[in-house]
Amino acid sequence: MAVAISLPRLKHHIETLSSYGRNPDGRGITRSCWSPAHEQARAWLLDRMKAAGLETRVDPAGNTFGRIGGQGSAVLTGSHIDTVPEGGPLDGALGVLAGLECLQTIKEGGVATRRPLAVVAWSDEEGRYGSLFGSRAFTGKLELDKVRSLRAVDGEALVDAMARAGYDASRVGEARCDPRTIHSYVELHIEQGPHLEAARLPIGLVEGIVGIRRNRLTFIGEPDHAGTTPMAWRKDAFLAACEYALKAREHVVRKGGGRSVTNFGRIELAPGVSNIVPARAVLLQEMRELDARILARLDRECAALARTVSRRRGLRVEIETLSRTEPARCAPRVMSAVQAACETLRLRFKKMPSGAGHDAQNLAAVTEAGMLFIPSRGGRSHRPDEMSDWKAIERGANALLHTLMRLAG
Ligand code: HGY
Ligand code: MN
Ligand code: MN
Repeated sequence: MAVAISLPRLKHHIETLSSYGRNPDGRGITRSCWSPAHEQARAWLLDRMKAAGLETRVDPAGNTFGRIGGQGSAVLTGSHIDTVPEGGPLDGALGVLAGLECLQTIKEGGVATRRPLAVVAWSDEEGRYGSLFGSRAFTGKLELDKVRSLRAVDGEALVDAMARAGYDASRVGEARCDPRTIHSYVELHIEQGPHLEAARLPIGLVEGIVGIRRNRLTFIGEPDHAGTTPMAWRKDAFLAACEYALKAREHVVRKGGGRSVTNFGRIELAPGVSNIVPARAVLLQEMRELDARILARLDRECAALARTVSRRRGLRVEIETLSRTEPARCAPRVMSAVQAACETLRLRFKKMPSGAGHDAQNLAAVTEAGMLFIPSRGGRSHRPDEMSDWKAIERGANALLHTLMRLAG
């Protein structure tokens, strides 16, 4: 059956969605979950889903669904419409809008499937308040007692952001799904790295998704006068944080699993003025690794390293785990559906891991889950010039279409 997605319609949807939260002077898109831009985008998405003839619903965690076909366990696809600050137009948006395009194409084409299909936009995938928030709530992996204390790095509380968007944070637990209502999950996403483009391959067949540990380290020294205090006396929290970061990076690269990575995305100093020796340095660190045991070991070893560096400099360090996402292997049945779709479309592919975290790794806890990638231009993502070729987007969306038709029978 020669059904195929409509690239002009998908392109128009991607371009329209990218207008919500667009920053001036080319600084990309900032569409944080629950923000006014995000809520306008959600309303637009719901409108597009209804226009496509999908039954829509939004769950208490803000996950936005569109569904076709009758009752029974559904084949689920989707991603997220929230972005990182100053992000690009495809991270998340591609999976949601290609999923919508596939369901609309199936419905318009009168394609009979044995199972219903649904497309979802998960809340706060980028974790402004809590990593992979919506899919954690849906899969029962959210620590409900912590919801009230979740905050963004600028201090804004999740409870307040949700309330402003019209959601009651105390009800997110009701979003937990009954796994029997899901047959399988497959997510289309940009690779966000250089490998597919370098190999000149149109599709990545994801085998596994890295686990991520996010920690907050607070180095506590002494405030002192920046001019009169002898250098040897200073208990400088900033220097302790720097020495730790350099040594921890070295450790993760040399003692990790070979593809382990770590990043220090934010540091805050207090009192934070030029003529006081920094008394406190708050450092955000994340570590990523496919093997859960290696990830846990690196986490332990880096904590020990932080304590050693601090002690040697006469400081203290407090380490707080902000979030833990376990690695996930993709389900063979979903992987073979993606592979069969690529063979039908004569699309070459390669099996590969995902160095980015995704909602699919939470769905893997309740159903058979998998992912497919398209190449990212220059391997770039999480930045304004994140982009893929429209031909690549069309190939990926058609591969998703055939994967969904196979999984839905
Ligand atoms: O950070 C990640 O891996 C994803 O883009 N949220
Ligand atoms: Mn992202
Ligand atoms: Mn993403």
